[in-house]
Order: sequence, then C-alpha cells, then structure tokens
Amino acid sequence: MHFYLDPGGSLTGRIRVPGDKSMSHRAIMLGSIAEGRTTVSGFLEGEDALATLSAFREMGVGITDPQSGCLTIEGVGLRGLNPPAQVMDVGNSGTSIRLMAGLLAGQSFDSILTGDQSLLRRPMARVITPLSQMGALISSHEGCPPLEIQGGRSLNAIHYDLPVASAQVKSSVLLAGLFADGRTSVTEPAPTRDHTERMLAGFGYVVDRDQGVIGLEGGGSLHGTDIDIPADISSAAFFLVGASIAPGSDLTLEHVGINPTREGVITILRAMGADIEILNERQVGGEPVADLRVRYAPLKGIEIPVEAVPLAIDELPAVLIAAACAEGLTVLRGAEELRVKESDRIASMAEGLSQLGIENTVQPDGIEVVGGEFSGGVITTHHDHRIAMSFAMAALRASDRIKVTDCAHVATSFPGFADLSVQTGLRLEVVEE
Ligand code: S3P
Repeated sequence: MHFYLDPGGSLTGRIRVPGDKSMSHRAIMLGSIAEGRTTVSGFLEGEDALATLSAFREMGVGITDPQSGCLTIEGVGLRGLNPPAQVMDVGNSGTSIRLMAGLLAGQSFDSILTGDQSLLRRPMARVITPLSQMGALISSHEGCPPLEIQGGRSLNAIHYDLPVASAQVKSSVLLAGLFADGRTSVTEPAPTRDHTERMLAGFGYVVDRDQGVIGLEGGGSLHGTDIDIPADISSAAFFLVGASIAPGSDLTLEHVGINPTREGVITILRAMGADIEILNERQVGGEPVADLRVRYAPLKGIEIPVEAVPLAIDELPAVLIAAACAEGLTVLRGAEELRVKESDRIASMAEGLSQLGIENTVQPDGIEVVGGEFSGGVITTHHDHRIAMSFAMAALRASDRIKVTDCAHVATSFPGFADLSVQTGLRLEVVEE
C-alpha cells in the first residue's frame, strides 16, 4: 500500500487522533494482572496494541472486542495467567515484547515471544541484562527476538541504573518487580515517559518516586479500575508539524495527552517558532489532557535541546520535516536511540530528505538539516509507520508529487491516518498495489 500526495494545501478543522499507544499497551497488561474488572475507553485499535491484547487472551484473560475504543478486561490477578498454548507473536511492537518480557519473567510457566522482521532485528539485551540480574532466565537469538522465557524462577528485587533513557526498559524492570521479593528500583539517565508508574498508581499499587529513583515492593495487588486513554501526542505530532508548515492552516487536535514526559514535541516546535496553543487543560485519569490549536507560522532552525530528545523520541522524524521547512540549520544530537527504532530513523529520514532535495548531514547520534524547499520524489519508508506519516506531511510544502511507498505499517499505530489527513486537507490518495 502506497501514499500518493499532491503538493500544497493547508490543514484545518477539529479532529481527535486515536488513543495513546503506550497507555493502550499498559491498560491491557495491568488490567489483565489486576483483580476484578477494568474498563478501558479511548483504546488504540492499532496493530501493536491489538497484538498485546491477543497475547493476554492467549494467556486466558477475558477481554472483550474493542468497540469504538471501549473494552472490558476481567483481571486474573498477579498469579492468574495461564501458560500460552503457542508462541506469542507481537508483530512490530517493541513495547509489547520488552514490557511482557518483564511481566513473564516471574511466571510459573515458560513462554516465547516473537515478532515481525523489524522486531527480530531490535536489541533485547537491554531488558535481558536487568531481568537476568533479578534471576530470570531468558534466551534470545544473539540479543534479538525470539525471546524464550523460562518460568518457575523466583525473582529477587534489584536496584538498576538504566544505561539508556528507555521507558520500555524501566517498565520491564518494574513489571518484573511486581513478582520479586522485596523492593525493586530504577534510576534513569534522563526522564522518560512515566505511564507505567502513573497507571500502576491508578490500579492502587504504590510506586514511590523520590529524586529520580522509582521503586515498588513486590507481591502487592492491583485492583481493577476505569481507564480513559487520551489521544496520542505521537500521532498528533504529524498534524502539529503539518499545520505549522502549511500556510493557511488552523487545526485543533482534541483531547491530546500532554504528560510532561511526552510533550517534547511541543517544546521543540515552539522553540522553532510554531504557533501552538494549549487549551482546556484538564486531568483525565491521572494524566494531563488538553486541546491543541496549531496555526501556520514561519519556522526557524534551532539546536534541539538534548534534554528534550527522550521527551520527543517518537516525534523526531516529524520534527525533521519541520526542520526542512525552517529557515537555517536545525541540529539534532544525542538521539542515537533513533537508530534502533522500527527502522534506523536517522538513516531513513536522511535518505528521504535527500530524496526531496533537502541538504542534511548524518552524525552517529543525530542529523543536521538545512531548511530548503521540498521537491517531489519517491520515499522509501523501510516499513516504518512514523517515516511514512512524516513524509506524507512534507507534501504540504512540496513543489511536486510525492509517492511514499509501503505504508501498510501505518496501521500499527495510527489506523485511519489517511482518512483523517484527507478530512483536514492533505491531498493524499491511498493506492493498493
Ligand atoms: C515506549 C517507549 C519508547 C517509544 C516507544 C513506546 C513505551 O521506547 O519509542 O514507541 O511505551 O514505553 P524506548 O523506551 O525504548 O525509548
């Protein structure tokens, strides 16, 4: 499936993008190991979160089919999961495999987690190392999936200093900590998304956070609850960028999660001169939510603050599209984590920007982009959903047609992206080939 985009246009109207991916995964995982019923609304019916849902069904948890983002989970308690009858395939989803590795390390049964070609290349040593220190036995294929997790191990609590700023690793260790004897704690080199901590608290599980140390006692219990998942700021980001670069745009994104550990994209775009208003800020189920109004504004190149990088990690491809439309140079450094996402996002973005005539220089941990004019051209997504959606937005400022090839993976995080984009004014056509 490919996107063909005619150049020009502007983005207008009011839309709500689908639910937050990180929270959707966690709602299924925590709801499954809670006692009693959990109801979820705003669930992201994308392939990644649905892979987590299927895996927990496979382990005997009763979860209703999502209907317009609403579902019910009959929690089985911390020790109530059943051995899966087969290998659990979580597709493209790094969040599923890394968080589930922690949760499964403390079970009485063996399990195997695998995924698609992209996931089979992604590094898992980052979770295997701390989980092994806790007493887990996990084998991998040279540090990559499939992961074979041996059951019946008793886990001991550890303190772990995370070598990389990764919410997935932090969450994996904390989830294993639920099953460990004593207090498990972690410190992070820089703050990362804290949905696991917030949601555990929502399930009545005490998580303490003191001066950068996050800890919990094993052996407690989670209590079923109601979870309202806001729209995903990572999906909103494509529209924040699109409306910022396209003259005449005035777009409102409704009910977006603006957790401080996720709002780096707003900070960065505003520093570039973007006109983003945060309206109706409110708390929904322990998470801050707001409507975001974004209007066209001329952008200027900046040095992206290194501390904003983990807070905008999934939004950086879209930010680089903004950089290409900005006046002057934008410098992104300290972003080596982009190399181990669904594709090597530094390489994928550099290739696509060059394809559209934008001068750029690749660094081991980032990229420098010189603002210019997009030509038309053909973009290779490397099967990466965020590369596809980022370059779709480039058409708003291109001089000719853009073809974005292999866009099927957009469905992993953003089902309905094409329709919603067309509704707001993007000149996009989906071609099945
Ligand atoms: C996620 C954490 C991030 C992010 C991913 C989702 C999560 O990964 O890129 O899309 O839900 O915890 P890292 O924690 O590995 O940076």
